[in-house]
Amino acid sequence: MKLLIDDANIENIKRIYEYYAVDGVTTNPSILAKNGKNPYETLKEIREFIGNDAELHVQVVSDTAEEMILEGHKIVDVLGKNTYIKIPTVQEGLKAMKKLSSEGYNITATAIYTPIQAYLAAKAGANYAAPYVNRIDNLGTNGIEVTRKIHDIFENNGLKTQILAASFKNSLQVLELCEYGVGASTVAPEIIEGFINNPNISSAVDVFTKDFEGLCGEGKTMFNCD
Ligand code: G3P
Repeated sequence: MKLLIDDANIENIKRIYEYYAVDGVTTNPSILAKNGKNPYETLKEIREFIGNDAELHVQVVSDTAEEMILEGHKIVDVLGKNTYIKIPTVQEGLKAMKKLSSEGYNITATAIYTPIQAYLAAKAGANYAAPYVNRIDNLGTNGIEVTRKIHDIFENNGLKTQILAASFKNSLQVLELCEYGVGASTVAPEIIEGFINNPNISSAVDVFTKDFEGLCGEGKTMFNCD
């Protein structure tokens, strides 16, 4: 399962990149709005930092297919080939996906709440389909089960579209999809950091340090204990 950062704050992105092996960055209009800067200013800074090989996902905001297509062309012109055009999985969005995928663009079908939406997006040529795990949970339906079902629909129908699961609120949601082997998950920085923020791990490591220092002296390590 690929792991992406669901955020547009460059400091958060740099911090996560320093410590974790991640595959790119996803954004949406709400995430960009939190930065308060022009979207292209933010996105160019992110692209420059993550490099051209990493995935960057950027959402269109128009409500007609024709305008979504124009937005998609501009997004890729400005941000490069490995930029995925995120398109909401509504009727106009499906039309835009068909056209843009036929032109060879990378598409992420977003705002997916139901398996049938994901199926339609896959048929329209989307590379990724993004179910909103936690938002589905909040509707009283199990977001993990919906996502697994979408994964199975793709597998059982020979559709090449991958899952890009989004909208997580805890580690367990991410872990369950990792266990199932979905294509990718995009996760907020604080949840990624929470994966290993565990006092049991820290205290185990502290005991090792204390025992070693008892043997070799304070501040000593395997680098300078001889
Ligand atoms: O882009 C979709 C995803 O980021 C939504 O997450 O946390 O707003 O439900 P959230």
